Amino acid sequence: MRQYIIAGNWKMNKTVSESVTLAQGIVAAVKNIKKTEVVIAPTFLAAAKVADVVKGTNVKLALQDIHWKDQGAFTGKISVDMAKEIGAEYIIIGHSEQRQYFHETEETVNLKVKKTLSAGLKPIICIGETLEQRNGGKLESVLRTQIVGAYKDISVEDALKSVIAYEPVWAIGTGVVATDEQAQDTQAFVRSVVKEIYGEKVSEAISIQYGGSMKPDNAAGLLAQKDIDGGLIGGAALKPDTFFAIIAAAEAR
Ligand code: PGA
Repeated sequence: MRQYIIAGNWKMNKTVSESVTLAQGIVAAVKNIKKTEVVIAPTFLAAAKVADVVKGTNVKLALQDIHWKDQGAFTGKISVDMAKEIGAEYIIIGHSEQRQYFHETEETVNLKVKKTLSAGLKPIICIGETLEQRNGGKLESVLRTQIVGAYKDISVEDALKSVIAYEPVWAIGTGVVATDEQAQDTQAFVRSVVKEIYGEKVSEAISIQYGGSMKPDNAAGLLAQKDIDGGLIGGAALKPDTFFAIIAAAEAR
């Protein structure tokens, strides 16, 4: 069975002290969670402090982005070595907000995925279509381009260490969630593209999360779908109780 992963993407929310409090609340809430991988992604600023909170617990640390260079004159960026030193295990790459607002391209996603894997960290590769693309019949071509681009020149061994997050852009932060069927159909397609690239063994092994307005009241339905192996959670990850309710739905699977 594939690993279920519930990851909280805190985006640009919470000060450092608020982040520590939230992390402490989550650590306390999930201490009996055994099967589901629980991941939190605070801001860069709060990450080192949050790392101290989650150390030795069953909560894993992610960062929300990374630069592909090792060091140097790249104002505003951080490197994989910095992420590794504080104990981050996952890096979120290619989030639609990065793609929409901060010039993320298929090429930069690929560079970041390679860098993350070369450091022994796990990329959570975000893909997803806009409503315009879906309604215009471009869903499959958009997702295929994103998947093929992200995995360019990535070996089978490395691909196995990656996670995909399918996040329809129209569902992110909007309260409009994909139906269970829409999400399942699309995630099955995503898996089929991974199969085309790497074969069935890899496509059956990779965890594919759903993201976009996943909440306690819709999580169980989404997480019951065959090709949904967890969630990337924004808004509902900002409170221990709502985040825990989603984790509990995954754990109950
Ligand atoms: P949301 O965000 O849960 O607030 O829709 C999801 C995401 O962007 O990862």
